[in-house]
Amino acid sequence: MRGPVCYAEDESIDRLLKSIVSSVKDFTESQHEVIDRLTRIGSALSAEHNLERLLEMIVDEARKFTSADGGTLYIVDEDEKHLHFEIVQNDLLKVRMGGTAGKIIWEPVALYNDDGSPNHANVSSYAAISGEVVNIPDVYYAKDFDFEGTRTFDASTGYRSTSMLVVPMHDHERNVIGVLQLLNALDSSGKVISFSAESRRLTESLASQAAVALVNNRLIWDLENLFESFIKTIAHAVDEKSPYTGSHGRRVVDITMRIAKKINDMNEGPFSEVHFNDDQMNELRIAAWLHDVGKIAVPEYVMDKSTKLQALFDRIELVKTRFEVLKKDLEIQRLKSGMKAKKAGQGGDGSALIEEMKNVEEDYAFIETVNRGSEFMSDDKIARVKAIAEKTWTLSEDRLPLITDEETENLSVRKGTLTKEERDTINNHAALTYEILSQVPFPRKMKNVPWYASTHHEYLNGSGYPKGLKGDEIPLQSRILTVADVFEALTAADRPYRKGNTLSQATKILGFMVKDGQLDKDLFELFVNEKVFLEYAKTELSQSQIDME
Ligand SMILES: [Fe+2]
Ligand SMILES: [Fe+2]
Repeated sequence: MRGPVCYAEDESIDRLLKSIVSSVKDFTESQHEVIDRLTRIGSALSAEHNLERLLEMIVDEARKFTSADGGTLYIVDEDEKHLHFEIVQNDLLKVRMGGTAGKIIWEPVALYNDDGSPNHANVSSYAAISGEVVNIPDVYYAKDFDFEGTRTFDASTGYRSTSMLVVPMHDHERNVIGVLQLLNALDSSGKVISFSAESRRLTESLASQAAVALVNNRLIWDLENLFESFIKTIAHAVDEKSPYTGSHGRRVVDITMRIAKKINDMNEGPFSEVHFNDDQMNELRIAAWLHDVGKIAVPEYVMDKSTKLQALFDRIELVKTRFEVLKKDLEIQRLKSGMKAKKAGQGGDGSALIEEMKNVEEDYAFIETVNRGSEFMSDDKIARVKAIAEKTWTLSEDRLPLITDEETENLSVRKGTLTKEERDTINNHAALTYEILSQVPFPRKMKNVPWYASTHHEYLNGSGYPKGLKGDEIPLQSRILTVADVFEALTAADRPYRKGNTLSQATKILGFMVKDGQLDKDLFELFVNEKVFLEYAKTELSQSQIDME
């Protein structure tokens, strides 16, 4: 008799077991799916480096998880006194504000009342201050918080705010950095329901992942900001070394980036296949800011040497004094010999001494002209400098050369004002740029900064410095920098020895440099034909320099 009963019992136990196994399986699968989704969201959040998109993603994902119709993300401001609206979304009202759509200008929520007491009346403020989650089935019946604002909003839009889940976002030090507020959880038929315990748990988990991503994002931004300011400060310090190179660094960046952007815009011609991505553009920009950093080690008097005798001051004044003393000595000599002749009852007009004095004046005038460095020094002129240098003057009984050996060497410079050693010192700035920048641990995406920056004086024909690189050995980025650097120097109106060139003069000189094989022909043509130079000129040069259209 037991047989059939036993079968029935066995069958029901079997069904029960199957149902338990199935439920456990379903639960495990759904949990697995949730964990999987949370993991995917976590990695997506940490991969997003754009703050606006990150903030949007946090609200989007939290709403998806909880089937919430609306969501608001607040961020605690720096002085920890207010909650700022960063994202506001509502599907029914078709609202998407903040994030990539631009800043929300709503008044922030005060965390403290006028008397300094914590603002517990506002639910988001309460969550931020207390660090607790608030889950409300229907805000119209909530007694602990003031939902006057919500009611006013509903009245003006026809919306009915009902269930609300407010979750504080804690950073790694358990400080609340923001608040995530979800509104109106919907069931599968679209009916508003309360936020479940499961939704709360998941949102808390998402909020903590979001907080970590936000903190990381802020840290990265702060670091980048610090790096950027530091670079600009260094470039500024280099420019400030000389009163004449004022904004050279900034202007070279400006021209460089205009050329690079234009290259990116080209669909035809030699640059149609070239495209600098955001990281490459940034790398080039940083290289442009730092291209002359090696000038830090170049003495100012060499960098700004405006005359041949310029050192810490223009030594022409010393030379002038010697000539004056010599002239006075000759004058005294003439007067003395005149008096002597008179006493002896002899005549004598001292014309030989007068002639000598005239020569001294002419010699000084010659030296003064030579000192300016504006004329080429022929062999004859150098010989005259040397002949004058051999003359002497008297100081406390000592006969001294009118012009010292070192002054003679400077005055004999054939072109410009710099001696070979000084020219080498200045040129060495490019090598120093590499030496300095190669010590900096640039991130991988900026690893070429030292290379691009230090090759801005290399010419395609190998006549540049510091390495005398040729053709393809010089990367396109450096060639752009070279064009920008030369054009800026030509048009800058703040150099000691000349006014800035006009556009026609400057482009003509660039053209000569192309013909000589120094600059890149394609870049020059892009710079001129695509009017890059003109766009720059309109923002940086004086009207009198703009003589081209
Ligand atoms: Fe340079
Ligand atoms: Fe430069």
